[in-house]
Parts: sequence; C-alpha cells; structure tokens
Amino acid sequence: MSNSDQKESLVVYRLKKTSKTQFYAQLFGIFCFGFILSTILVTSIFVAFHFLWSAKPAILLENSKNAFILSGNYTPCNRRIIGWTRLYDKKELTNEQVSKMTHIIFGPITWQFGIIRFRNKMEKEAYERLQEKAKSHDVKLLLSMEIDNEVNDPATNLATIKMIWYLNSFLTTHKIDGIELNWKFPIKNLAQIVYFCEKMRQYNKNMAREFTLALSLPASDIGLNLESIMEHVDFLNIETAEYYSPLHMEHPQLIGPPSPLYSGHAGVENVDSTMTYYGCVTKHPEKLNMKLMFGGRFWKNVRKPIRSSEPLWMLAERYHGSVDGDWMAWKDLEESGWDLKSASWNNESRTPYIYDQLEQNYLAFENERSLLEKIRYAIDKNIGGFVIWKPIFDDDENTLLDVMSSSKFCSTRDNKTVNLDCDVYKQ
Ligand SMILES: *[C@@H]1O[C@H](CO)[C@@H](O)[C@H](O)[C@H]1NC(C)=O
Ligand SMILES: *[C@@H]1O[C@H](CO)[C@@H](O)[C@H](O)[C@H]1NC(C)=O
Repeated sequence: MSNSDQKESLVVYRLKKTSKTQFYAQLFGIFCFGFILSTILVTSIFVAFHFLWSAKPAILLENSKNAFILSGNYTPCNRRIIGWTRLYDKKELTNEQVSKMTHIIFGPITWQFGIIRFRNKMEKEAYERLQEKAKSHDVKLLLSMEIDNEVNDPATNLATIKMIWYLNSFLTTHKIDGIELNWKFPIKNLAQIVYFCEKMRQYNKNMAREFTLALSLPASDIGLNLESIMEHVDFLNIETAEYYSPLHMEHPQLIGPPSPLYSGHAGVENVDSTMTYYGCVTKHPEKLNMKLMFGGRFWKNVRKPIRSSEPLWMLAERYHGSVDGDWMAWKDLEESGWDLKSASWNNESRTPYIYDQLEQNYLAFENERSLLEKIRYAIDKNIGGFVIWKPIFDDDENTLLDVMSSSKFCSTRDNKTVNLDCDVYKQ
C-alpha cells in the first residue's frame, strides 16, 4: 500500500467514522425529540385527567338565596384550619391531609420533675414523620400541653417560670412552632393561667423566633379574665363540640348534635351562644377558633316523643340507670350501617340526624352541609378559624376536609369587626 493509499483509507476511515457519529447523533436527536414529545403528551394527558378527576361539583346549600359555592382550592388558607392529632394514633395524617391545614396540634408528651419529653421512641418517631410533612407544606406544629391538676399544674410563680424555661428549650430542640395550653377545668387558680401566658410571651420576645401561643377554653364562661388573656395569646380554641353526648357527665340522655349552631334543649348552650359570648367579651372574633368533630354520636333506646312537635330534641331512656350510646368517626358511619343518604335535617341546629324508629337508635352528626353552615357562620361573624377533632376521622377521599379547605372561608382575609349581638354583654 502506497503512502497516499494509506492516507486515503485513513480519510475514508475518518469519513466513515464521522458519518457514523453523525448518524448516531441524528438517531439520538430523533430519540430525544420523540422522548420529549411523548413526555409532553403523557404529562398533558395526566394533567387533564387530574383536573377532570379532582374537579368536584360545586356544593350548593339548599337555600338558593344564600348560595354558598365552593370553587377551587385556596392554598395557603388565609385563616386557620387546625387539626388535632395524637402521636399514638394508629392512622397517621397523610401528606394530602396535612396540606389542607394551617396548624396541627399534637400530643401527648410527659412531664417528670420538670423535664419534658416524648413518652417513648415510637411516639418520637411519629413526631419526626409528622414534622417532615408539616415542614413540606408550611404547616405550623403546636404542642398540646395538658395541664393536669395533680401532676404538672404550676401552682406557684416560680413553678411557672421553671416550666416555661423547660418548655421553650423543648420547643426549640424539636423545631415546634408553639403550644396549645390545655388546662383541665374547673381549676381553682385562674390567675395562674394569665400569669403563665404573660410570662411565656415575655420570655419569648427575646428569642430568635416567637412561638405561637394558643389557649383551649370550655364552651361557657369560667370567670377567666379574657381581656388580659387576649394581650398574650395568639388565639383561643373554644370547645364547641361537646354540647350533647351519651358520655356527657351531666345530661347524657339529652339527644343532640356535637355542635348545634343554634337552638337546643332548654338551658344547654349552642355554638352561636358560645361564640357570641367569647366574641363580645374579647372583642376579637378573629382570634377565636371553633372546635368541631368529624363524626357524630348515637343513642340507643330512643322512643318516639309523645308530642309530635318535639322530634328534633328527643331523649334517650336509661336502662339500669345508664344511657347507652357512643361517639363515632365520620369514616365509620356508613360501615356501621347508618344510611347517610337517608338523613333528615334539623333546621334549628343546622345539622343532620338519622332516627331509626324501629331499632330506636338516633344518630346526630356533622356532614358537608352542616360544615358549610358553620363556615358561613364563621365568615359572617368574622370568626378566625376551626379546630378539627380529628382529620383522621375523615374518609379516604377527605370529603370533609376538602369542604373546609376549599370553601370561601380560606379565601377571605381576617376581619376584626365584631359582628355579633353583644347587647347582653354590655354593662
Ligand atoms: C330554617 O330556619 C331559618 C332560620 O331560623 C328559617 O328562616 C327557615 O324558614 C327555616 N326553614 C325551614 C324549612 O323551616
Ligand atoms: C368586615 O366585616 C364587616 C361586618 O361583618 C363587614 O361589613 C365588612 O365588609 C368586612 N370587611 C371586609 C374587608 O371584608
């Protein structure tokens, strides 16, 4: 082979090589193009499906004059949707549930000789998983501080200061955003609550990040100085889901929903009377949260009332001195045999109920419609938020949580106007 031949073949070889490279490059280009095209196609099909799938029909209340239409998700919520959870719950909050809330109140923890800690390794790990989810959805975590009279009631000012010191270090260590104080009522020393909140706030002011401070209070007036409390707390969680229950200490035989918006058996309060009291006295409706239950309560041995004018407020009969019944989570109602579609509507309390005359069973519960009534009430009265006991009681589709998080409630901003009938509370 001559020198030029050699050169030639080298050129040919190079040519071949380049054309081969070009060929592969083209092939690669076509492949990429196809890949991108198919990705776009698949994504758009997925997105279209997702929208079609998640587009729920607007829920209209029957009263068309006050039509209250749900449209779209408002994230983040401008007001407060707070969920309760326990670290020992078998079912944990899902990412989707967490994303529909603004705050989560969790517990329990233990106190021993002033030291605060998780009760065990399992609950500490449950907390870590919860924290991960809360962080990714920008949801605040509040530690539920159950203050028990015997064990950890800070009876003296010194005990209070010590408690606050330990508490702040626990919150910082575990990246917790604040606390919900849950004093066991009735208590003797109401001034200690005010002192605790005041000192907690003072202590906090000097720290890098200020903790959220919430106080949980019962439905009726306990004589606490609310005006001074309001200077120190971010919000109050009002117990508005315990008016009627077969497990009620004083009147288990009175049948009614966990949270009647209005009316009720004579003498028992309702959501409206409670919120009117707190709103008028504090003058801060926007700092109040209404508690509600995802579920209901049922009574057995319920006979038809003698007077037909009283079907809404019935009584359960006692057998061997006790009332038979229990509470039930929303997700378990249908499985337990209650036909929710057959429910009647109690127009006075704005809640649904089912009365099975044959079996003499009565169920009073919360559903989409009664939640919307409460949401509308909160918007009307400028109430700042809701506390849900508990989001894990919702069904797999998060039906109730969806009603809360996608309603107009979240799209409207805080409004500090007191729009309640306060004449009774004016001196
Ligand atoms: C339900 O209650 C409201 C307010 O009390 C009243 O205006 C309305 O007429 C009632 N509806 C029915 C069907 O009784
Ligand atoms: C605040 O509430 C009052 C009374 O409920 C209402 O008249 C007013 O329009 C509201 N303001 C805003 C900005 O929504």
